[in-house]
This record gives sequence, structure tokens and C-alpha cells, in this order.
Amino acid sequence: MNEIVLLDKINKLYGDEVVVQVLFDIDLAIKGGQFTAFIGPSGSGKSTLLNIVGLLETPTSGAVFLDGQDISGMSKDELASYRNEKIGFIFQFHYLLPEFTALENILIPYWIGKGKPPEKVVSRAMYLMERIGIEMCSNKYPHQLSGGQQQRVAIARSLINRPKLLLADEPTGNLDSKTSNMVMELLREIVRVDKMNLVMVTHDRDIAASVDRVIEIVDGRISNDSAVE
Ligand SMILES: Nc1ncnc2c1ncn2[C@@H]1O[C@H](COP(=O)(O)OP(=O)(O)OP(=O)(O)O)[C@@H](O)[C@H]1O
Ligand SMILES: [Mg+2]
Repeated sequence: MNEIVLLDKINKLYGDEVVVQVLFDIDLAIKGGQFTAFIGPSGSGKSTLLNIVGLLETPTSGAVFLDGQDISGMSKDELASYRNEKIGFIFQFHYLLPEFTALENILIPYWIGKGKPPEKVVSRAMYLMERIGIEMCSNKYPHQLSGGQQQRVAIARSLINRPKLLLADEPTGNLDSKTSNMVMELLREIVRVDKMNLVMVTHDRDIAASVDRVIEIVDGRISNDSAVE
């Protein structure tokens, strides 16, 4: 199987007394080595779908396969270590740890999995920071950084472990166009060089125009898919 992501009839409902269905029977297969964008109106279910792919939320019904593996059989611990090792996540709202510097924040996913990072991992962190224009922030704490700088720290953090699957929820939402271009260039390079798979939610039509596949979500359903014309 060469699908990195395979979704089978995913439904998601929220609420106990008042139940709201936000995803309806989503079937989706994403091939390896591609850059995919989710687009669609606010509230249509893009983040919910991305969170399900990233194993942060469980669907109400339906199955998720990542890289050929059915994740429904995994225990909580297995899910957590699978996530840390194989999945990188860039959230719509970034969460940096305030008591650590930018460089330390970037290295945290490595620490969690493998302990003290060797020199070559620290160099990779510095390289990532340089590529997106935040090398001067390495020893600063999050409260000393602008919103856009914090967001870029979160982007570098998501890349430190070279995750096989990178999920990004509007990663350039807080950035001006020049910085946004730097981030997009880095992400494209990484998809190519590290053979990473990238799924990104974006409102940016320019970004959506430059990816391999665009999937439009409207009212919890796939309303358009550029791979299936
Ligand atoms: N935890 C929750 N409990 C109840 N409803 C929720 C929850 N999370 C999301 N929703 C609802 O699900 C729907 C889809 O939300 P989602 O965050 O996936 O939208 P989105 O497409 O990412 O929107 P945006 O572009 O504004 O980020 C919305 O109507 C939202 O209010
Ligand atoms: Mg969202």
C-alpha cells in the first residue's frame, strides 16, 4: 500500500445534549510524497479532519490508516509514541513552553523521544531557524518573541524529528508575505529532500495553487478534489 493517509467513512459528532455532526462519511486516500492542501470556509471541518488524521481526535465512526497501519488497534501509549515519532504538527495556535528558549523548544520533540540531542540535531535546529529567519532568536524566551517569530519556532519544532507525516493548520496565518514565502520554501524543500508528506490547511489561494492536490471541505464533506477531476 503506498497511501500515507487512508480514511474510511469518517464521521465526527460533537456534543451530548445537542449533537452536531461536523464530518460526514469522509473517504480519502493520500499518496506518499505529496503536498496536499485542505481549503474551505471557516467552520467547515478542516481542523477537525486534520486532527483526526494526526491522531489528536478520534472519529465517532470510521477508520484511520496511516502508512498502511490501522491505528484503531493501538493502545494510548502506542498512539502517543507513534505521534511523537512519525507525525509533526503545526497548529493554528502555537503552544511553546514559556520556560524554555526558542532553541530548547525546537529540540523538545527530540528530548521526549530520545533524550539529550547530539550536536548534529542541534545543528539541524540552527539550520531550520536560519532558513526561516529566526536564527537571532535562539536564546530568547517565547515572551521575548513576536507572534510571527513564535509561530516560526513552532514550525522548526515540528520538523526537528523529520516526521514522515507533517500536518499544518494555517502555519503561515500570522506571517507577512515575505516570511510566509520563506516558510513555504522550507516546507517544499523538506517534502522533496526528506520525502516527507505534508497536509496543510490554508486560506491562502496562492499556496493552494502551488501544491500537488487541493481538497475542498464544505459543511463537513469533500466538495471538490483536484486529484479526482
Ligand atoms: N470540541 C468541539 N465541540 C463542539 N463543536 C466543535 C468542537 N470543535 C469544533 N467544533 C465545531 O465543528 C465545526 C468545524 O470546526 P473546525 O475547527 O474543524 O472548522 P475549520 O474548518 O477548521 O474552521 P476555521 O477555518 O475557522 O479554522 C465548527 O462548527 C465548530 O464549531
Ligand atoms: Mg481550523
